[in-house]
Amino acid sequence: MQIIHTEQALRDALKAHNQIAFVPTMGNLHAGHLHLVKIAQTHAACVVVSIFVNPLQFGANEDLANYPRTLEADCDKLAQLGVDIVFVPTVHVIYPDFDGVDLHQSITVQPPPIANILCGASRPGHFAGVATVVLKLFNMVQPTVAVFGQKDFQQLFIIQSMVRQFNLPITIIAGETMREPNGLAMSSRNGYLNFAEKAQAVQLVRSLKALVASVQLGHHEYEKLALHATQQLMEQGWQVDYVTVRSAFTLLPPTSSETELVVLAAAKLGKTRLIDNIQFCAKPLK
Ligand code: PAJ
Repeated sequence: MQIIHTEQALRDALKAHNQIAFVPTMGNLHAGHLHLVKIAQTHAACVVVSIFVNPLQFGANEDLANYPRTLEADCDKLAQLGVDIVFVPTVHVIYPDFDGVDLHQSITVQPPPIANILCGASRPGHFAGVATVVLKLFNMVQPTVAVFGQKDFQQLFIIQSMVRQFNLPITIIAGETMREPNGLAMSSRNGYLNFAEKAQAVQLVRSLKALVASVQLGHHEYEKLALHATQQLMEQGWQVDYVTVRSAFTLLPPTSSETELVVLAAAKLGKTRLIDNIQFCAKPLK
């Protein structure tokens, strides 16, 4: 396995390959990331994983400085899986005009308005930062296939829009959310939770599952169901950002005939913001 830090070395290493599958990450790899790597390996002989904690997608009061950086352990995990190349660029490789003070480049990707709702509403500029770094990584790696997790449903949606709208010759594959045995979605941010919070964190997916079960029993008052889930989480000590049922195709509130749905939630336990979602099919209204 090659660990590469510069754009030129990456281009040289990739010259021999015409089918490349790519998994972008911010490191601190867990079984969710490794699941995406295994999917990538079924799509191309050469798999590239990037590890880059992208400052442009973090807000001023977010956890950029504390974000867990575990490069050695990450590389061990990737080597064990037989990954070909780990790309670990510096900030200057990704943002060549960065003057050390202002990261905001003159050219960034402006994502569609959907980037301003849900997580985008409480994290202004987040998805512009994600789309910009992913486009840059795509330009450097030039993959035929890239794999993203459904765990970050809105991110996946925006990347799919970018690929379509920018006519990028890349197939985006969605990998299902990997969970702890109790159902908690794996996340690098779970490491911020203390012992008691970790036990409590499973309530998020449980409330989503309960909402899905209600819909599948024939209840279609989505706003009421979401409000109920929100209230329950608040009673259990969560600060709820949103719980909402959306169309899985548009991320907008579903029309009465739509059956491909997703329930999404973001909520804070102490200082840790967690997100989760479940995609599901609802029976049509009669
Ligand atoms: P990161 O949070 O490291 O996630 C990298 C990839 O792993 C994303 O596609 C994410 O959806 C996926 N992932 C995270 N948890 C998962 C889980 N439990 N099961 C399956 N997949 C999971 O998402 C980012 O990094 C960044 O925004 C990035 C796309 C790399 C751009 O900086």
